[in-house]
Amino acid sequence: MERIGIGLAGLGTVGAGVYKHLIQNRVLISERVGLELAVRRIAVRNPDMVRTVHPPREIVTGRWEELIEDPAINILVELMGGIDTPYQFMMRALDAGKAVVTGNKALLAERGFEIFEKAADKGVPIFFEAAVAGGIPIIKSIREGFIGNHIESIHAILNGTSNYILSRMTEESMDFPEALREAQEQGYAEADPTLDVNGWDAAHKAIILASLAYGFWVGTSQIHVAGIDPITASDIRFADRLGYRIKLVATIRTNRDSLVEAHVHPTLVPKQHVLASVNGVFNALMVRGDIVGDTLFYGRGAGQDPTTSSVISDLAQAAIWYDSGGKAFGFTPHGLYGKCLPIERVSSGYYLRLSVVDEPGVLAQVASILGSHQIGISSVIQPEGHEGDAVPLVLIIHDAPFGKMWTAVQRIQSLACVKASPMLLWVLS
Ligand code: HSE
Repeated sequence: MERIGIGLAGLGTVGAGVYKHLIQNRVLISERVGLELAVRRIAVRNPDMVRTVHPPREIVTGRWEELIEDPAINILVELMGGIDTPYQFMMRALDAGKAVVTGNKALLAERGFEIFEKAADKGVPIFFEAAVAGGIPIIKSIREGFIGNHIESIHAILNGTSNYILSRMTEESMDFPEALREAQEQGYAEADPTLDVNGWDAAHKAIILASLAYGFWVGTSQIHVAGIDPITASDIRFADRLGYRIKLVATIRTNRDSLVEAHVHPTLVPKQHVLASVNGVFNALMVRGDIVGDTLFYGRGAGQDPTTSSVISDLAQAAIWYDSGGKAFGFTPHGLYGKCLPIERVSSGYYLRLSVVDEPGVLAQVASILGSHQIGISSVIQPEGHEGDAVPLVLIIHDAPFGKMWTAVQRIQSLACVKASPMLLWVLS
């Protein structure tokens, strides 16, 4: 059986998982692929560090350049973490005509355009199944399974840590800091959970999905992002009373003018919607294609084994590409879409929580501002309980363009009867 040489850059959690499972499932993988996937060389920052896997010392190096220079290596796997070094590594690998497998969502989201341009120029593929939703094969599904479909929409929970935190806030009435602490103790949150809780980890994944679905590279400035950190236990409770769960949802969809929406933020999801029952560290995606209709994907979006599963599937594809030639699927720009809808023009329903003085006429003042912007209210609750000398007032708002809603909220915030910054969340539509 022909051997395909693999160079592995990075032997952290995922790198070690890939090494371990390539050996453990070697026979199965070779039988299915028809090729032997052999790790020839591994680049790490510190070759002498003690690890959970023990590759022969002679194949471990401190210089990633050796992987690119080695003629026995046909496919490179980038699992280093960070942006600058992986970027150099990938560009050099593509220049050398070697296929690259990566799980680096931040790198692709921030520099994907240049990387894929280089890949197209060199006729070499990049595989990145592990970059989005861990073990869920969503990239292959969009790229291959739904190749004949216009993707009408993707609604997705793409960050396990924030989903775990929101689930615990819902189940145990915890506040955000306590739920974050628990996620860290359980080992779910990254050492630095900033990108998890500020929405940017999910946004990086959404950028990749949107670009793949619509055939033009969506820039980081074209996606509207908000995190879960300002959500309080009261928001969870009020949303529950109104029939919703709060989830960090990525929305990617197109309208009749072929303009593309991409946004990630805490969103009120109706309890009967399938995404409302995705709890804990799980990820889920609902993809609607014009031919296939609605489809649902669910699974672990992080962790050694799920991510390893995706990397190995990419390695198999890369090996087949190398062995048989053929068209290199990566990111294929096509120009059928090509523009993002400015967030101000995106329409949605909203949840608006205000902290107001408890006196007659307050609701009328708020309603009057909303009315003057042609924004309708669909329900109002004034839950019991005081916040200092103020009380909460919660409104669910009919669909309105975000720009109009934002302007109205600024005006509401400046009313004398409004005592704290309003909480504005989107309602899934
Ligand atoms: N930290 C991410 C999550 C996984 O919690 O889903 C890596 O993107």
